[in-house]
Amino acid sequence: MAAAAFQAARRTHCLQWCIPAVLVLAAGVAGNAQNPPKPPAERVEVPPPPFSDGIYPCSNCHGSMKPDRTRRSLEAMHTDIVLKHDEEHRWCLDCHDADNRDVLHLASGERVPFEESYRLCGQCHGEKLRDWRAGVHGRRTGNWNGSKGYLLCAHCHNPHQPRFRAIAPKPAPHPPTRPNESAGARKTGEDRNEKTHGN
Ligand code: HEC
Ligand code: HEC
Ligand code: HEC
Ligand code: HEC
Repeated sequence: MAAAAFQAARRTHCLQWCIPAVLVLAAGVAGNAQNPPKPPAERVEVPPPPFSDGIYPCSNCHGSMKPDRTRRSLEAMHTDIVLKHDEEHRWCLDCHDADNRDVLHLASGERVPFEESYRLCGQCHGEKLRDWRAGVHGRRTGNWNGSKGYLLCAHCHNPHQPRFRAIAPKPAPHPPTRPNESAGARKTGEDRNEKTHGN
């Protein structure tokens, strides 16, 4: 009798603890298998990556070429690409996959399609990636509780030379002249706004 009760107690105990424990373990394993876990939830829709005409798929040429890992300036092709992006520490194949040129890869080696290049950028610019997802940096469109569209980092930043070039300021606008305006009549901040926004 006592043994049976004990067994029953153990069983309910097990129902309470063993099953959740197994589930937690299983979730842990699944999480590790997907290494590193994909960034969360909402679907990220992006326009096609901004490739030059005819350059993609890269494997049209690279499929039959041996990857060349030596750091050098390119002469036979891509002569327009000059790295100005932490270039002392980095070279092409840190971002582009050596064996499958049609994709990028993360520091972990995980391959990432060009449509998800923001994940690569986010490895070093985590704060910007967070802001970008939140719609604070870059451009986000869509529904507040539904799918959202984003511009890729690469739509605005050249990944090889991401710094924006300074834009020369335009000359100040001419203030509009009003025929009937008496001197001193509208000397408020409004006046200044009207001059810059006006016309
Ligand atoms: C910081 C990571 C990074 C490095 C380093 C890098 N690239 Fe890229 N590269 C990218 C990304 C991201 C794109 C995709 C741009 C897009 O979405 O169109 C790209 C695009 C390209 C393209 C397509 C350009 C076009 O005109 O459409 C070529 C070719 C290329 N890279 C070659 C190179 C070469 C050669 C080097 C080394 C000299 C290099 N990349 C270094 C990230 C990198
Ligand atoms: C028309 C053929 C052609 C296409 C298309 C092409 N490449 Fe290349 N690529 C070359 C050649 C040729 C070289 C070697 C250039 C040299 O050594 O001066 C090269 C070199 C590179 C290198 C330097 C490393 C290496 O293995 O030599 C990278 C990185 C690279 N290409 C990336 C890309 C990416 C990314 C794309 C697609 C977005 C692309 N290429 C499309 C012909 C091409
Ligand atoms: C491996 C780390 C790494 C990755 C990956 C990386 N960056 Fe950078 N990035 C840096 C470092 C370090 C600097 C600062 C040094 C420099 O500007 O050369 C920088 C600078 C920048 C800047 C500021 C330039 C300036 O001086 O104003 C921009 C914009 C930028 N990166 C965008 C990108 C984008 C877009 C991607 C993805 C295509 C990317 N980065 C991927 C490390 C990285
Ligand atoms: C809609 C265009 C757009 C998109 C998309 C975009 N950026 Fe930017 N980014 C800018 C502009 C504009 C600046 C400011 C340039 C300046 O002040 O010189 C900037 C600045 C930066 C800087 C330098 C900031 C600093 O504090 O100096 C980094 C790094 C950067 N962006 C990374 C990213 C990354 C990573 C992504 C993608 C996750 C991204 N950006 C997406 C337009 C964009």
